[in-house]
Amino acid sequence: MILSSYRVYYHLLLGLLLLHRVPPCPAAGGHWTLLLPTIGISAMHMQLLPNDRIVIFDRTDFGPSNISLPAGKCRFDQNDMVLKLDCTAHSVEYDVSSNSIRPLMILTDVWCSSGALDSNVSLVQIGGYNDGDHAVRVYRSCDKCDWQEMPSGLIQRRWYATSHILPDGRQIVIGGRRQYNYEFFPKTSPLEKAQSLPFLVQTYDRWIENNLYPFVFLHTDGNLFIFANNRAILFNYSINKVVKTYPEVPGGDPRNYPSSGSAVLLPLRIVQGFVTAIEVLVCGGSPKGAYTNAKHGIFDGALDTCGRIKISDPNPRWVMETMPVGRIMGDMLLLPNANVLVINGGSSGTAGWEHGRNPVLEPVIYKPDNPIGSRFEIQNPSNIPRMYHSTAVLVRDGRVIVGGSNPHEHYNFTNVLYPTELRLEAFSPSYLDPSLSGRRPKILSTMSRTLFEYGKRVVIQFTVLDQVDLNSVFVTMVAPSFNTHSFSMNQRLLVLDGGNTTEVVGRSNYEVVVTEPPSRNIAPAGFYLLFVVHQDIPSEGLWVHVG
Ligand SMILES: *[C@@H]1O[C@H](CO)[C@@H](O)[C@H](O)[C@H]1NC(C)=O
Ligand SMILES: *[C@@H]1O[C@H](CO)[C@@H](O)[C@H](O)[C@H]1NC(C)=O
Ligand SMILES: *[C@@H]1O[C@H](CO)[C@@H](O)[C@H](O)[C@H]1NC(C)=O
Ligand SMILES: *[C@@H]1O[C@H](CO)[C@@H](O)[C@H](O)[C@H]1NC(C)=O
Ligand SMILES: *[C@@H]1O[C@H](CO)[C@@H](O)[C@H](O)[C@H]1NC(C)=O
Repeated sequence: MILSSYRVYYHLLLGLLLLHRVPPCPAAGGHWTLLLPTIGISAMHMQLLPNDRIVIFDRTDFGPSNISLPAGKCRFDQNDMVLKLDCTAHSVEYDVSSNSIRPLMILTDVWCSSGALDSNVSLVQIGGYNDGDHAVRVYRSCDKCDWQEMPSGLIQRRWYATSHILPDGRQIVIGGRRQYNYEFFPKTSPLEKAQSLPFLVQTYDRWIENNLYPFVFLHTDGNLFIFANNRAILFNYSINKVVKTYPEVPGGDPRNYPSSGSAVLLPLRIVQGFVTAIEVLVCGGSPKGAYTNAKHGIFDGALDTCGRIKISDPNPRWVMETMPVGRIMGDMLLLPNANVLVINGGSSGTAGWEHGRNPVLEPVIYKPDNPIGSRFEIQNPSNIPRMYHSTAVLVRDGRVIVGGSNPHEHYNFTNVLYPTELRLEAFSPSYLDPSLSGRRPKILSTMSRTLFEYGKRVVIQFTVLDQVDLNSVFVTMVAPSFNTHSFSMNQRLLVLDGGNTTEVVGRSNYEVVVTEPPSRNIAPAGFYLLFVVHQDIPSEGLWVHVG
């Protein structure tokens, strides 16, 4: 009797313990999948292309990688500082649907460069180091395509510069090491010169630049928001004029490389042709002095603060928030349901070779519309540290592909704290949990068109099988960004006007009429991924072209 009640009690206790250990709902924190055990290179830069392939590249002067060039090809570069004759690849193309890679050939050095997808499906990559610092390279994807190089496409050397697509389709290239200026690509005239940008001098620390890879966003009024070190300006690049100066982020700590925090332009909600609140969120980084300390083996704790600012306000001010964990070298990505994912990085030290410590394996989701204090949610961890030179990009099915991490020079796999990382992983946010599949919308091919024109209306048909809540539907468009060094250039998410017009048109069939983006300032021409979101669960994306 005593024994049996003891046993019941024991089982109850065990049950409670088990209940406690099993996450309350498998959907709560997303999950990780190892996609490929090696892609042969460290993924320092990544860009998703409109054929669902990701072009990935490292630097070229790094000694042999772990993947050979195809068909016995070799690269001879007399300027290469490590290997003049190199038969390994430093760039690959990853095909999302077949989960496979193909090696590509880049000639000159693309180390710490920038880029943007142009409106013609090509990645236009900018600069690099050494013999590649004035080069522009174009990658147009197809089964056999490879990189094309223009060795002197730039006026100034561009190493650690930021690129952004402009409303006229060109890209602006801002800064770079010892470059306090900007230029455009393509040029409109051979006489075009680089123009000075004193803000990059003002935000430059003498020993530690702290303003490299500035965070740049296109404001919907056509000006550029440029954040460097610990503050920002609004800039009219056509006439080289600062039109607004934003206050310093409280605390004054640096947020750009090598203090590498990250930043996003929060989702732009379009209502009757306008976006009323334009907000930027800057998170993490390392405190002042951390770079010098890291050089001496002292690894300061990363910043756990985020600053959020309404850049369109007449008197803008930073509102500070606290992340569940400090983070340096994190990446901030806009998810299709208009939440922000903070992923990768560490919790002490800085960017730079051997300067980071304590990987943060857990991504965090930030819900911009929740009240302050309940915006962050910790997600399930990976088991792979993603330190300096790691990357993350969103793909069409809603997953986030994560690669890279090579926090030391050359391809060292042994006797180093964080070995060179060749594994490619995917983080599936909780909205991809199979238990939600009934509620996941599916865009139907009957959609009226995928070539969008500014301000026109488009009818989107979709299905939802279960627990339909028409009031929760909205439609988003995400621009595919160029990711490197904790920043996603050209990242932009639009919430289209008309999400509230959803109607039933048949059994499990619905229709929503949305207005295509109203202008080039709100959506520069090019490719975007369109998603229908229902109860915060996005459909698979559909490639659309605007303009
Ligand atoms: C990289 O290549 C080297 C030389 O071929 C090999 O010894 C090493 O195991 C490879 N490492 C990885 C992680 O693939
Ligand atoms: C796109 O391609 C066309 C035709 O090849 C070319 O005329 C145009 O300049 C390209 N546009 C951009 C933005 O590169
Ligand atoms: C920049 O200034 C010029 C000259 O005043 C003006 O025509 C243009 O509209 C301005 N650009 C923006 C985006 O406001
Ligand atoms: C990495 O490997 C290179 C080449 O083998 C070597 O010169 C270098 O010292 C190594 N670095 C570290 C941090 O072990
Ligand atoms: C949808 O919302 C807009 C404002 O964003 C409003 O003007 C319109 O009346 C609403 N339409 C419906 C069908 O509720």
